[in-house]
Amino acid sequence: MSNPILEIQKLSKFFGRVVAALNINLTFEPGVLTSIIGPNGAGKSTLINMLSGSLSPDSGRIVFEGREITHLPVHRRVQLGLCRSFQVVNVFPQLSAFDNVQIPVLAMQNRARRFLRPVAGEESVHREVEDILDRIGLGGEKSHATASALSHGDQRVLEVGIALAARPRILFLDEPTAGMNPVERVRILENIKTLSKEGRTTFVIVEHDMDIVFSLSERIIVLHHGVVIGDGTTEEIKSNPKVREVYLGEEVSE
Ligand SMILES: Nc1ncnc2c1ncn2[C@@H]1O[C@H](COP(=O)(O)OP(=O)(O)OP(=O)(O)O)[C@@H](O)[C@H]1O
Ligand SMILES: [Mg+2]
Repeated sequence: MSNPILEIQKLSKFFGRVVAALNINLTFEPGVLTSIIGPNGAGKSTLINMLSGSLSPDSGRIVFEGREITHLPVHRRVQLGLCRSFQVVNVFPQLSAFDNVQIPVLAMQNRARRFLRPVAGEESVHREVEDILDRIGLGGEKSHATASALSHGDQRVLEVGIALAARPRILFLDEPTAGMNPVERVRILENIKTLSKEGRTTFVIVEHDMDIVFSLSERIIVLHHGVVIGDGTTEEIKSNPKVREVYLGEEVSE
C-alpha cells in the first residue's frame, strides 16, 4: 500500500450541544475516488471545512502527506495541494470561463516564478488554461462565454476547473451535482471519473444522489451525527446494517 495522502486522527467539532464531528479517524490513500455521504446535518460539510482549514477542530489532528496541518490557514493548505469547492456556485459571473480559470493559473505560475527562472510566459499560462478547460469539457466556444451565460451544470464544472488550476494533490468537492439536471449530473460524474484516473488529483466528494455515489465511488464513507458509521466499497456499504438503518433501507437497496 502507498503512503496515505491524508490522515485524520480523533477529529471532533461541537456547535453548542450539536455534535458535528466526534472522534473521526480516517486515512485516505492517493488516487482512491471517495464519496462522503450521510443525511442532512450529518457533519459532511463540517468535515470538509475542517480539512480545508475554514473551520478549526475542537480536538484531533490532520496530517497531509506526512505533515501536520491541523492549524494551517486555508491558503497555506492550498499551496501544499489541499483544495476544496463549495456547496454553492462560486465563480466570477461577469468573466469568461477562460478568465475564471486563468486567474488561479496566473497566481500559481507567478508563485512558481519567484523560485524558478522566468522562462514561462503568457503562452504557458494559456496552454495550461486550455488544457484544464479541455479536460473538464469546457474548451472551444464555451471557454469564451461569460460564466453567467453558462448553464448551471457548466458553472459547477467550471468550479472544478478553477480548483484544478491550483494543481491540487487532493480535492474535496462539496455536492458538485447540487442543482444539476440528470444529463449534467452524468457529465460531471464522467468528468470526475476521468480526472481521477489521470492520477494527478485524489478526489473526495460529498454527494446525496445514491446512484451517483454507487456508480462513481471506489470507497464510501458514511457519516451520521458526526460519527463514521460505515466505510468501505459500494457492496460493503449496501450491506452495512447501520447504514441501512439510517437510510431506512431505501436508498441503499439494490
Ligand atoms: N457554523 C455553525 N454553527 C452552528 N451549527 C452548525 C454550524 N455549521 C454546522 N452546524 C451544525 O452542525 C451539524 C452538521 O452540519 P453540516 O453542515 O456539517 O452537515 P452536512 O452533513 O453537510 O449537511 P447537508 O447535507 O445538509 O449539507 C448540523 O446540525 C448543523 O446544523
Ligand atoms: Mg453540507
